Amino acid sequence: MKKLWTQDELDLLAGHSTNSVIAHITGRSEAAIRGKRQRMGLVGGAPYIPDPGHTAVPTDPIQEAAKKVPAVFGRIPVEVFDSSGWTRFGLVSDTHLCCKEERLDALHAQYDLFVKEGITTVFHGGNIVDGYIPRINGDSACATTPDGQAQYVIDHYPQRNGITTNFITGDDHESWFCPGLNFGAYLDMLSKNQGRTDLNYIGHVEADVELRSGEFKQVMKIQHPGGGSAYARSYKGQKMVESFQGGEKPAILVQGHYHVSGYSFDRNVHIIGMPGFQDQTVFGRKKHLRFEIGGVILEFKMSPKTGAITRLRPEFTMYFDRGFYKPFLKSDARILKGHMVIETK
Ligand SMILES: [Fe+2]
Ligand SMILES: [Fe+2]
Repeated sequence: MKKLWTQDELDLLAGHSTNSVIAHITGRSEAAIRGKRQRMGLVGGAPYIPDPGHTAVPTDPIQEAAKKVPAVFGRIPVEVFDSSGWTRFGLVSDTHLCCKEERLDALHAQYDLFVKEGITTVFHGGNIVDGYIPRINGDSACATTPDGQAQYVIDHYPQRNGITTNFITGDDHESWFCPGLNFGAYLDMLSKNQGRTDLNYIGHVEADVELRSGEFKQVMKIQHPGGGSAYARSYKGQKMVESFQGGEKPAILVQGHYHVSGYSFDRNVHIIGMPGFQDQTVFGRKKHLRFEIGGVILEFKMSPKTGAITRLRPEFTMYFDRGFYKPFLKSDARILKGHMVIETK
């Protein structure tokens, strides 16, 4: 025989309790509760209006019991993630010196900013020079030999009192000259011979920089990965981080090569995509590659209590194309406009 619904049960159905809770209170099945609610139009229909004269809605024992459980969530002391000073580095990449599209104007401006901000250590993410392969950059290279390009760096790369530039080399451009030539070590030696002790070669393709705080160590990886660019600016960095084995993940990954700015955080790695200091080349135009120009001041805190990088902020200083700065560049005053103008009728 069908059991009739009491007013208390109907009011319960109209409330916010779940089907399972009402089933528990009333002793009816969840299916029966669900069916009754649907018939009352409480699911997708007009809501049931309870009898105004009947307001005594029984309390839900489970919900009442839940209210009595104290909310214990703890609190992390702020010193755990904010107890050390800021460590600050300058970051640049892909300067491609010795090609027509180099942006020494912007690179020197970036170093002036480093001086102004008190930066003493700069990392360079590779492609310090453009290298030379006639069919690729034969029309834009200002020097074609390793000697010539190394000397060009010594003569023109920004040199500022108190700033050391630690650079890596890529397996593209600076490795184009001839197989087996360690261009980075060669440039390091040649520059020191000529009194430029501020240029310091730290590795080919990638270099791990050890960061220490108390007894803890972390790694900041400076990398020039190579390979083609991607449509999404964060994609290559994320794929690289996915490919790291658990134990070799750095805390900070600085990627040169793509000439595109970006910051992302993936698998506990802060990934900084570096813009370059080179305007778009003919090769880049044909391949539809973005060429962003800019440098970074990286600031972070590493906790001496946990060893974690707890706060990090990359500041990107981006530059427009050279024409934008023409009023400030005396060297460019003689450059003509270079495009034809026709007055239409
Ligand atoms: Fe590059
Ligand atoms: Fe590259």
